[in-house]
Amino acid sequence: MALASLIEALLTMEAAALAAVESASDSSGLEQVRVEYLGRKDGRISGILRRLGEIDPEERPAVGAEANRVKARLQEELEAREALLGDGGSAEAAQDLSLPGRRGWTGGLHPVTRVLDEICAIFAGLGFTRARGPEAETEWYNFVALNTPMDHPAADEQDTLYLQGGGLLRSHTSPVQIRTMEQYRPPIRILAPGIVYRRDAWDATHAPGFAQLEGLVVDEGVTFVDFKATLAEFARRFWGEGTRVRFRPSFFPFTEPSAEVDVKRVIRRPDGTVHETDWLEIMGAGMVDPAVLENVGIDPERYSGFAFGMGPGRIAMLRYGINDIRLLHDNDVRFLGQFTS
Ligand code: DAH
Repeated sequence: MALASLIEALLTMEAAALAAVESASDSSGLEQVRVEYLGRKDGRISGILRRLGEIDPEERPAVGAEANRVKARLQEELEAREALLGDGGSAEAAQDLSLPGRRGWTGGLHPVTRVLDEICAIFAGLGFTRARGPEAETEWYNFVALNTPMDHPAADEQDTLYLQGGGLLRSHTSPVQIRTMEQYRPPIRILAPGIVYRRDAWDATHAPGFAQLEGLVVDEGVTFVDFKATLAEFARRFWGEGTRVRFRPSFFPFTEPSAEVDVKRVIRRPDGTVHETDWLEIMGAGMVDPAVLENVGIDPERYSGFAFGMGPGRIAMLRYGINDIRLLHDNDVRFLGQFTS
């Protein structure tokens, strides 16, 4: 009778212990179950074994064997449940093993920075170095030296942000052309990325400050052929081998002739069919106007060159299908987090 009641007590306790393991939702819950049942001094199994004195000595080994079986089983179940929950894991997460793993937050480069770096790397391969200039400029560098008289519409107060006490925020990166030519003699091959400012609206297609990228080449014997070939080569390296390039006549005060450069992407699909995009305008460009070379004391009879200016923000929007320029400025991690790989 005493034997039967001890075995019975062990089995009842085993069932309760297994149920407790099953409902534990984290490591600390499992630890509580372990202490409650397997604890050496106050554990429930120890408690039952303490009553061994109540039964005949020859019946004791049977109870001991059953107690060891229950201990081993409980130990096993505790370990299995611990492994399932994982370190710090919860019961809910443990139930859906198809969930992707949780990774810590990793930073990424802003889409405009990515495009800028890529463009700079391509031009570095063509022999260009990086240059930079100040964002607060003078009328001379931003307009006059670039063959743009102060009564030109671009210099209008409506278009540009003027600073108190003289000076203005540069409205384009073209003044870096002047600063570079003042400092260095040809041959010059530079790329100048930077922020520029306009007195513009803040809407889906305008921002009062945005990134621009200026290029300038000045050397002996630079021709229109060098100009077209360099920009076409850039376009093919950036958008792909089959990319088509078009130069449309345009006007800028600091280039003559001037052009607007468009690209058309030719995309070959895996099934062999070909898709052509519309023409996309990517930059303003032209042969450096001799008057600009004269303004910095470079002899236009001996030297010639070409220049170009593009908007990496616009190029990033075209590349990634971004339809609102404000997304590039908001610093919203829900948007920026898509550019982390
Ligand atoms: N500075 C012009 C703008 O902001 C862009 C540009 C056009 C730059 C032609 C150039 C160029 O260097 O040759 O609209």
